[in-house]
Amino acid sequence: MFNGSPTTSINLIMPQLVGQVVIVTGASSGIGEATARRLVRAGAKVVISARRQDRLAAFAHELDPAGENVLSVAGDVTSEADRQQLVAATLAKFGRIDALVNNAGYGTRGPVEMVPVDLIRKNFETNIFSLIALTQLVLPAMRERGDGCIVNIGSVAGRIARPLSSIYDATKHALEALTDGLRGELKPFGVRVTLIRPGFIATEFIEAANTASSDVLANVGVYAPFYKGHQDKVKSLRSVAGVPEDIARLVEKALKSDNPAPRYSGPFHAKIFLFLKWILPNQTLAWFTQLKR
Ligand SMILES: NC(=O)c1ccc[n+]([C@@H]2O[C@H](COP(=O)([O-])OP(=O)(O)OC[C@H]3O[C@@H](n4cnc5c(N)ncnc54)[C@H](OP(=O)(O)O)[C@@H]3O)[C@@H](O)[C@H]2O)c1
Repeated sequence: MFNGSPTTSINLIMPQLVGQVVIVTGASSGIGEATARRLVRAGAKVVISARRQDRLAAFAHELDPAGENVLSVAGDVTSEADRQQLVAATLAKFGRIDALVNNAGYGTRGPVEMVPVDLIRKNFETNIFSLIALTQLVLPAMRERGDGCIVNIGSVAGRIARPLSSIYDATKHALEALTDGLRGELKPFGVRVTLIRPGFIATEFIEAANTASSDVLANVGVYAPFYKGHQDKVKSLRSVAGVPEDIARLVEKALKSDNPAPRYSGPFHAKIFLFLKWILPNQTLAWFTQLKR
């Protein structure tokens, strides 16, 4: 019965997450930060990770000054040692891992012709290979226990590829396939796997993508006349952008479900784009997305 104590009210509202141990990667900003905040509010024990140590430590202190329910582990998802340290520190502090939110990621911009293959590899290394490697580290214990949840943060770009963004979009297309296959593999073992497809969300994503691609963008060569139109389109999309909390809410919903949907999308414009992808002939969609001066 509700007796007014904060713990009891949390238990009544969100029983599934109270005391659950959840790792959130890429929690130093944007969607990861909002997700961690929301999960802590729901009573979970949250482990936050990202490269920017100072930011992460300040955020952990803000979430839980006593440090009982939040642990920050700074690290780069592309480093094997850092991934192992993330899992080891989580087990040392909380003794188990109930869920992993694979959120860390960034975008690469520019025409495929102009993007050095090393930059492409780097983007796949962060968004795909490291995500797989970290998932591999947490899976054995979940599988043996017959319980656990993997939430992958995909994108509408995992369904609709756009010119000048095809490298990033390819990583998210790969994540769609990976998530679907993994879901089927783990179903018999009681481990749940789901994909969240955000639309445009106001975060540091665009700045991070521009920084990662600055050398390419400084010299787009013959693509320059098209690039201006593309930039204008990106700017105009900012007006419809959602907020990180829109996606954090979906992550929480997926984590709280005994049988999560294969995919969640949001905010509303994301659902519209995915619906158009579903109903429009490929040629029509290609006309809308192709480069225009
Ligand atoms: N914003 C959007 O419109 C949008 C749309 C669809 C999907 N998404 C996806 O949502 C996820 C979060 O993006 P966001 O929009 O919240 O962008 P963001 O604000 O730039 O956050 C990205 C997070 O990932 C971390 N990160 C990047 N590379 C990392 C690495 N090598 N190792 C560890 N952490 C790393 C960053 O932290 P550090 O720099 O401190 O390491 C940061 O915490 C990404 O997977 C992105 O693809 C975003």
